[in-house]
Amino acid sequence: MWHFRLWDIQDVAVFLSITLYMCHLAGAISVHSPQRSLTRSVQEDVFFSVNVTCVGIPTIQWTFMSGAVSRSIGTWQPGVYTNITVDYSSRVQAYNNGSMYLSDLRLQDAGYYVVTVTETTGSSKDTGLVLKVNEVLYEDLQYLSVSALLLACLAGLLMLAMWLLDKAYRKIVACRRRKQMPENDATELQSL
Ligand SMILES: *[C@@H]1O[C@H](CO)[C@@H](O)[C@H](O)[C@H]1NC(C)=O
Ligand SMILES: *[C@@H]1O[C@H](CO)[C@@H](O)[C@H](O)[C@H]1NC(C)=O
Repeated sequence: MWHFRLWDIQDVAVFLSITLYMCHLAGAISVHSPQRSLTRSVQEDVFFSVNVTCVGIPTIQWTFMSGAVSRSIGTWQPGVYTNITVDYSSRVQAYNNGSMYLSDLRLQDAGYYVVTVTETTGSSKDTGLVLKVNEVLYEDLQYLSVSALLLACLAGLLMLAMWLLDKAYRKIVACRRRKQMPENDATELQSL
């Protein structure tokens, strides 16, 4: 039991020192994000998952960019303070590892999300994630209404074609009858 515990502590210590050493080697900051491109629908939520490692307490800043628009979403230092912009305060949740949760998505939320990690030494690193927002319901409805319209048009055309064919058929039959009528009448008269 003790043996295991000792090992655990040693493992953690080794892991931490290696991590710290690697951080020092690699310009100290690392931002790991499993998914760089996300697609969600309107009114859904999105979790921008990142894991920030650096020396000391990082300052995490998220910025939204789309075309010419660039606006700050929030800045926080894990365990120190969290400052979310008023526009986002009701929809954003900040995580200690740098991740950000954005709820109730709108179409305008589609764009580029940049997380800037700044170390106590002043060096910083940017990582960008792309968010696509689909308006699924609207697209589905549009698709359905277009299909329904096409089907209705097709049905209408078919009905018109059948009506015309029927009319033409009746006319032809009537014509034939009229042509045959006098002869019939004649033969009938003759036979009488
Ligand atoms: C960051 O932390 C959150 C919550 O603790 C977790 O769900 C998420 O997976 C973490 N992200 C990474 C990349 O480790
Ligand atoms: C929070 O951010 C706003 C602007 O982004 C700034 O004016 C304000 O001073 C910040 N507050 C704190 C406590 O850092």
